[in-house]
Amino acid sequence: MNTSKILVTGGTGSLGSLVVDRLRTVGCDLHTLSRSGRPGTVQGDLLTGEGIEQAVKGIDVIVHCASSPSNPRQVDVEGTKRLLQAAERADVSHIIFVSIVGVDRNPFYPYYGMKLEVEQMIEQASIPWTILRATQFQEFVFKVIQFLDRLPVMMMPKGFLLQPIQTGEVADRLVELALSAPGGRVPDVGGPEVWTAAELARAYFQATGRKRRIVEVPIPGKIAQAFRAGAQLCPDQKYGKIRWDEFLSQRLHLEKN
Ligand SMILES: NC(=O)c1ccc[n+]([C@@H]2O[C@H](COP(=O)([O-])OP(=O)(O)OC[C@H]3O[C@@H](n4cnc5c(N)ncnc54)[C@H](OP(=O)(O)O)[C@@H]3O)[C@@H](O)[C@H]2O)c1
Repeated sequence: MNTSKILVTGGTGSLGSLVVDRLRTVGCDLHTLSRSGRPGTVQGDLLTGEGIEQAVKGIDVIVHCASSPSNPRQVDVEGTKRLLQAAERADVSHIIFVSIVGVDRNPFYPYYGMKLEVEQMIEQASIPWTILRATQFQEFVFKVIQFLDRLPVMMMPKGFLLQPIQTGEVADRLVELALSAPGGRVPDVGGPEVWTAAELARAYFQATGRKRRIVEVPIPGKIAQAFRAGAQLCPDQKYGKIRWDEFLSQRLHLEKN
C-alpha cells in the first residue's frame, strides 16, 4: 500500500488510463485530471489553467501525461508552465514527465521541439523531477496505419525507422518511477525491434490476411531525414518485450470480439 497522493494528468488518455489502472491496484490515493470533470476525475484544463490550482492541492506526486499534439504551444508548453507554478505553490515533491525518444535529435518537428521545451522547463523547475522518454506506442502506430489504409493509395514514408513499444509497458515503467524517488533523466524505453514504417504496414496486412500494395514515398526535408537516420530510436534500450507481430495478433483479436 502506497499512501502518496498522486495526480495523473492525461489520465483519461491511451497511456494515462493504463497508469491510473496500475496505480489504483497498488492502493495509491489517486486523482485523475480531465477537462471533462466526469465522475472519477478532477476537472482541470491546462489550456486555460482553470481548476489546476485546486487539482494539485495536497498532491505529493504528479505523473504528467496530458498533451495536445494539435495545440502543443498552448497546452503542452504553456499548460505545463501553469501546472509547474501551481505545483510549486502546493509543495509537490515529485513530477514525472513522459516525453518522446529523440526529441533533441529531431526538434524540427514542431511537436517534438515543444516536448523538448517542456523537458527543459521541468529540469529548471524547483520541483524534483523524473523524465522518461518513450518510443512510439504500438497502439498509435496501429491507428496511423488504419487511417492510411482508408485512403485510395496506401502510402508510407520511405525509410522512416521506428521502434514501437506497447503502451502498457511504458505505463509499467511510469508506475515504477512514480513510486520511486526522483531520478532525473532516466534511461529511454523502446520496443524490442526496429522496423521501417513500410515493414510495419506490411506486417499489419499480413496479420489481417489482406493484400495491399504499399507505395513508399520519399519525403524531403530535415524532419524526414532525422526519421530515416534513426533519430526516434533507442536500439540500446529495448525495454519492451512485446513484439509488433504479438501486439498485432492481440489487437486484431480484440477488434474481432
Ligand atoms: N502516442 C505515442 O506514440 C507516444 C510516444 C511517446 C510518448 N508519448 C507521450 O505520452 C503522453 C500521452 O500520450 P497519449 O497518446 O496517451 O495521449 P492521448 O491518448 O491523446 O491523451 C491525451 C490526454 O491529454 C489530456 N488533455 C488534452 N488536452 C488537455 C488540456 N487542455 N488540459 C488537460 N488535459 C488535457 C486528455 O484528457 P481529457 O480529454 O480527459 O481532458 C487526455 O487524457 C504524451 O505526452 C505523449 O507526447 C506518446
